[in-house]
Amino acid sequence: MARKCLPRVAYDYLEGGAEDDVTLRENRAVFERIRLRPRTLVDVSGRSQQVEVFGKTFKMPFGVAPTGAAGLYSFEADIALARAAEAAGVPFVLSTASFTALERVAQAAGGTQWFQLYMSKERESAQRLVTRARDAGYEALVVTTDVPVGANREYNRRNGFEIPFRLNLANMIDGALHPRWLLDVFLRTLLDSGMPRFQNVDHDVGGRIVSKNLSEFRARRDALDWSDLRWLREIWPGKLMVKGILTAEDALLAAENGADGIFVSNHGGRQLDGAVSPIEVLPEIVAAVGDRLAIMVDSGFRRGTDIVKALALGADMVFVGRAPLYGAAAGGQAGVEHALGLLKSEVDRVMALTGCRRIEDLGLAYLQIENLFMGVMEAI
Ligand code: FNR
Repeated sequence: MARKCLPRVAYDYLEGGAEDDVTLRENRAVFERIRLRPRTLVDVSGRSQQVEVFGKTFKMPFGVAPTGAAGLYSFEADIALARAAEAAGVPFVLSTASFTALERVAQAAGGTQWFQLYMSKERESAQRLVTRARDAGYEALVVTTDVPVGANREYNRRNGFEIPFRLNLANMIDGALHPRWLLDVFLRTLLDSGMPRFQNVDHDVGGRIVSKNLSEFRARRDALDWSDLRWLREIWPGKLMVKGILTAEDALLAAENGADGIFVSNHGGRQLDGAVSPIEVLPEIVAAVGDRLAIMVDSGFRRGTDIVKALALGADMVFVGRAPLYGAAAGGQAGVEHALGLLKSEVDRVMALTGCRRIEDLGLAYLQIENLFMGVMEAI
């Protein structure tokens, strides 16, 4: 439905990976190499998919990952995503690159809201964002580290994708062919707050345009290192997570440099094409830091079975990026609620069919894994 609703420039940005989409495809294919070993004649009538992370209970073992430019998919999508996550009883992570100011999202929705930080080596702009996120009440900071430089997404160049959004002839024609998107999303945003753009970084809190901020906040991102995480640890009072970890070595460094948790993630296959999939490295990471860090995982999750497999491999929680955005594009907040509801019902069904009453009971005994970890499984 999302594909039908959206012009190409918006749909490609949502759906695409990087370069040849090798990692994007593998993020899905990897799940087929893990199969479930169901137990039978287990009383699963009282089953629950609740999980506890950082001392809080969530109704489902998955949350909403940060997605920038979500406002391209429905009007004020960041608020729709946050409200749907609140209704579902799961955490929501707001992207730095949101089209709605972080203060507005925090006010418009309750529930558990975390803030995802993109930062530059020049710490002043990061300090400003971190202070704003703290003052707005975000409970945790998720610093994304897998974007030292922009990814090679050729479709964006072909489509003339730019933020602030730019109209070209092809986009205008395509927009006219998607009148609901044109009116309900694009023109509504235009009338409400101007050309769709990143509201946290090129504006100050009062909505005044401070355009130099955008380049300032992207400056020298390729110079970031672990000392920047230690600095964030000093200035951020809440839980701190690093998003974009794909090796046990980096998971250990995250723990040593002050993180409370990590997102094992290849950014949904959108950054380094050819990068490993989180599921392939989860066992080594769980073995290295499972007792010290909360382990979140994302990239490629579309089904309840995918979620159950990652939890059985030792993840504490799964995050979904594109799945809720499909819902936002197809039906705004109700669409996001529907997407999360589908995953909830799938996880529930998989638990019943595998004979598993509680998420904490899931473990390797529920899995049959083929040629996936090349000896790592024997080592742990
Ligand atoms: C993302 N992702 C992302 N991550 C992040 O840390 N900051 C961001 O601003 C964005 N923006 C973004 C936009 C869009 C359109 C997508 C699809 C993704 C990555 C996201 O948080 C997550 O890692 C992946 O989306 C997970 O993969 P799936 O669930 O989309 O397969």
